[in-house]
Amino acid sequence: MDLQTLENTAREMVGPGRGILAADESHGTIGKRFEALGIESTEDSRRDYREMLFTTPDIGEYLSGVILFDETIRQTTSDGTPLPQILLDQGVMPGIKVDGSTVDMPLSPGEKFTQGLDKLAGRLEEYREMGARFTKWRAVITIGDGIPTDRCIDANARALALYAAFCQDAGLVPIVEPEVLIDGNHSIQQCYDATQRTLSRTFGHLYEHGVELTGMILKPNMVISGKAADNQSGVEEVARATVECLLRSVPAAVPGIAFLSGGQRFLQATQHLDAMNRLYEGRLPWELSFSYARALQEQPMEIWGGKAGNIEAAQKVFRHRAKMNAAARSGSYSDDVEKAS
Ligand code: G3H
Repeated sequence: MDLQTLENTAREMVGPGRGILAADESHGTIGKRFEALGIESTEDSRRDYREMLFTTPDIGEYLSGVILFDETIRQTTSDGTPLPQILLDQGVMPGIKVDGSTVDMPLSPGEKFTQGLDKLAGRLEEYREMGARFTKWRAVITIGDGIPTDRCIDANARALALYAAFCQDAGLVPIVEPEVLIDGNHSIQQCYDATQRTLSRTFGHLYEHGVELTGMILKPNMVISGKAADNQSGVEEVARATVECLLRSVPAAVPGIAFLSGGQRFLQATQHLDAMNRLYEGRLPWELSFSYARALQEQPMEIWGGKAGNIEAAQKVFRHRAKMNAAARSGSYSDDVEKAS
């Protein structure tokens, strides 16, 4: 393993003023998002949409990396340029989602297990040759009656650690994503507890598998009340609960934490990240960044709507959202900045 290269890549991924776009939706997920907007999901429409995002002028000012899906990393633009090359030309590193999505956790109703370890080493080799510098694996933890169970957390944490070890062995930086879902009516305290349990087990397994913490990125959920909870947590409450939970669970050797947006409204995702960086400025061992899918794509996807004539307007809004989240990286986002830009 070339640890120096892994560390350089990981630090670049979470370097100041930029973040990561997750554009790695599976066919099923992007199909549902397109359908809600009346856009047909085909190989070409998915390519056109992602080409629109990646060719946004100067997007490399605000993005350090983009997570791609298997189909996308193999696609080319209308003029024949591979999509990963478009990103490299913008100064953005291509990454790739490598998990095989979730199945029902056996004998554990309501819980999920993420599969995909079979033949992983061979797939990583291929992706690296196609230009990928980093990877992503997402585990899903659900809060509900009697769940998450220890066995579900443990099985997913073990798979995440093994995935991370395979990636480092192949010279790719693993993004380790254990997501405690926002779905449900749980309190912020229940989310805090489930997140702390999940992160502790995840880092226990990462350590046991020999994963170099300096050469990986953590992608967690924020600590937040459930979407259907009566009592919705405020911006500062989310910021403090999240950072306090992370300080108790994430070793200082990890270079950066890049949050998922997890179904928060797009403005909330920006405000929460901004509050964390503002309230804890100069007091954190790791960078706090973003690796959003929905919070970056919601507006541009709607404006694009599958029509070539809307590309410029969609790109303008996409660049704006990326710029706002880049400002949140240093705690310098505000309503005024949102409106002025
Ligand atoms: O795996 C999930 C994505 O990488 C992040 O998506 O920001 O919409 O939660 P999200």
